[in-house]
Amino acid sequence: MLKIVICVSGGGTNLQAVINAVENGTIQNTEIVGVISNNANAYALERAKEKNITAVCISPKDYFDREEFNIGLFEGIKKLQPDLIVLAGFLVTIPEQMSAYYKNRMINIHPSLIPAFCGKGYYGLKVHEAALERGVKITGATVHFVDSGMDTGPILLQKAVCVLPEDTPKTLQKRVLEEAEWEILPKAIAKIASGEILLGKSLLEIDDK
Ligand code: GRF
Repeated sequence: MLKIVICVSGGGTNLQAVINAVENGTIQNTEIVGVISNNANAYALERAKEKNITAVCISPKDYFDREEFNIGLFEGIKKLQPDLIVLAGFLVTIPEQMSAYYKNRMINIHPSLIPAFCGKGYYGLKVHEAALERGVKITGATVHFVDSGMDTGPILLQKAVCVLPEDTPKTLQKRVLEEAEWEILPKAIAKIASGEILLGKSLLEIDDK
C-alpha cells in the first residue's frame, strides 16, 4: 500500500481529483494518510475532513520564523510516515533539507508545460497571464519530482491544452485544470502505486533498465 500525504494551500480541486481516483479505483493500492495545508482557510481541508482523512494546518503564522515553520512542516509530514508526498497547489517553497530527504518521493503539479512559465514568481493565475501575454497557442500541465530548485526536477507526465483566442487567464486556468491537471496528477500517482514509475530511483536509472 502506497501511503501518500497531499500538501495544499487553496481550493483543492486537484486533491479532489486524487480522492476520486482512489475511490473509483483509477489509483489502486494507495491510501491518503493525510492532507496538510499552510492555510487554515483552505477549502481543501474541508474536502479531506469530509472523507475522514487526517487534515492538518501547519501555518507559518503559528511559528516564530520561517526556519521554525520549515522544521514544523518537516516534522508534521514525517509523523504521517508517507511513501510519497504530493504537492497539489502548495504555495510554500520546499526547504532544501526536505527535498533532499524525500528525493524522488515528492511530486508537484505545475500548470504549464515546463520549462515554459515556471520557476520563481510563476504560480496561480500568473502562469496563465504569462502564457497569454507571450501568445503561446498551446500550454498545459506538468507533474514532476521535486528537487532543490523551483519546478526543476525530473518530469514524469505532461499534457498539452490549446489556448483559445478568447481566453482570459481565468478561462485558461480552468481549462488547464479540467483537461490536464485533474488527469495527469492521479495518473502519475497510479503509475507510482503500480510500480510503473519507481520511487527513490532517478529517471536516468529507470531509462537504463
Ligand atoms: C493548480 O493550478 C496547481 O497546478 C497550482 O495551483 C492550483 C491549485 O488548484 N499549483 P487546486 O487547489 O488544486 O484547485
